[in-house]
Amino acid sequence: MFQLTRSVTWQALMRLRQDTADDRIRDYFSADPQRFDKMSLRVGGLFLDYSKHLVSEAVLAKLIELADHSALVQRRAQMFSGDIINVTEDRPVLHTALRNMGDAPVMVDGKDVMPEIRRSREQLRQFAEAVRSGAWKGYSGKRIRDVVNIGIGGSDLGPNMACRALLKHRHPELNFHFVSNVDGAHIQKVLARLDPASTLFIVSTKTFSTQETLLNAKTARRWFLDNAGEEADIGAHFVAASTNKKAAMAFGVREENVFEFWAWVGGRYSMWSSIGLPIALAVGFDGFMEMLQGAYEMDQHFLAAPFRENMPVLMALIGIWHINFMGAETQAIVPYDQALHQLPSFLQQLDMESNGKSVDIFGHPVDYKTGPIVWGQTGSNGQHAFFQLLHQGTRFVPIDFIASLEPEPGMEEHHFALLTNMLAQANAFMEGSQRGSRLDPYSCPGNRPSSVLLLDELTPKNLGALIALYEHKVFVQGVVWNINSFDQWGVELGKRIAGEISERIDEHSQDFDASTQGLLALVRERFRGEANTPRPAKTGKPARKSPEKTKR
Ligand code: F6P
Repeated sequence: MFQLTRSVTWQALMRLRQDTADDRIRDYFSADPQRFDKMSLRVGGLFLDYSKHLVSEAVLAKLIELADHSALVQRRAQMFSGDIINVTEDRPVLHTALRNMGDAPVMVDGKDVMPEIRRSREQLRQFAEAVRSGAWKGYSGKRIRDVVNIGIGGSDLGPNMACRALLKHRHPELNFHFVSNVDGAHIQKVLARLDPASTLFIVSTKTFSTQETLLNAKTARRWFLDNAGEEADIGAHFVAASTNKKAAMAFGVREENVFEFWAWVGGRYSMWSSIGLPIALAVGFDGFMEMLQGAYEMDQHFLAAPFRENMPVLMALIGIWHINFMGAETQAIVPYDQALHQLPSFLQQLDMESNGKSVDIFGHPVDYKTGPIVWGQTGSNGQHAFFQLLHQGTRFVPIDFIASLEPEPGMEEHHFALLTNMLAQANAFMEGSQRGSRLDPYSCPGNRPSSVLLLDELTPKNLGALIALYEHKVFVQGVVWNINSFDQWGVELGKRIAGEISERIDEHSQDFDASTQGLLALVRERFRGEANTPRPAKTGKPARKSPEKTKR
């Protein structure tokens, strides 16, 4: 059986890591004045500078070889053509079909899905125009002023991030709210400020079975009926984006207002589908299509560009160098753009739910690191929060800086400060501070790598390209690691146990560990008012005193 870590290329990269262990990024620039030109790349409205990495030309060439020797060309073709590459769920992976602007068919089970994708887009267009124009009325005849998306994970993070990122393109008279957490405080805070007569709820859930979303939707429904309309009015204030039309209609959504999508769209890859309905309402259907167009153009680049000039491939390979050869455990995402402040959270699910795996596509445990811990916060805030660790800490944390060149009108001075801060930080991470001796407490070791990704402007099109770029970066890493980036069985485990615990709260079940039993006893006492009757411990030891008796 092929073992990645025993491959000739992997072994050569291990040796290259040893050979370059004492290299300094700064010296690469001294040795090659053309380094910036050779290690930067423009694709459409995106410019990537990947020159400030501990990656020599030899390392880069060997990383490209790793991609060449992987199944990347084949798996990429399989993904775009609709082959079943999500092998554990027996599904194709076709978020790329949702933004396909070409005429070529995309076949699923022998049927071209492009006609139904185009019908779905038309349904979105008509609905978005009706709501945005005011033609869509609530039960009392008022137009919609507030849109509440109820969803979690990929049914929240993508549209939420995009609506925030594209704020300046947003309809001036529509307000958007995103409810995701099952913590009642989340929906309570949103509903408190709304007029039910002019509020539209979008119940966004691929399966229409996610506990948090169903409970939030039920609460929203009750709020609406308690404060405004009748059952018959539900249809004017609740629509759904789901693959489960039957469940959506059972909730009270009219059939024509169920915006369907398909099982071959993964949750964290679904913002291009009807899950993107809030985006189409916010920026208009044309803006939504511009976002798809940007993603489509990145798709075409990913399909056509040689690996050495392929932006997603280069980002993926540099990430593999950090993770598998330099020992990076995390990847920092630092957008120097307040409009992108939700991008780190979105990329967290995209990357960690896709590549947080420890078995390969055959189910065999892997003997190498896979997906990193993705985290981050906007700059310049990060400079006053965690940059100290990044500059002087003991950990190796590669950073993606992301910004747009175009300032908000009238905000040129702010934007200039923002961009110069970002460039200064990227330089400082590389150069360090050469004050006095290395024992100088103020000295920063430097040699800490980062990429800088510059958007000409934060437009729907460039945002679409940016998200598709990261989707394909995650895909390429998954292929090199030979894992399935498109299932999420770990999440299903938590969902199952949550169901068991809530259903069996009254059973005093001994099936759970002692810790869970003890904590359940506290929850049971609060929610069932039960005296916390001590139970004979399994081990025959004296029964544990109930918590109140041990209160100190
Ligand atoms: O986190 C697990 C997950 O299934 C995600 O993949 C998905 O985006 C989220 O839960 C919500 O699922 P649904 O859209 O079916 O409610």
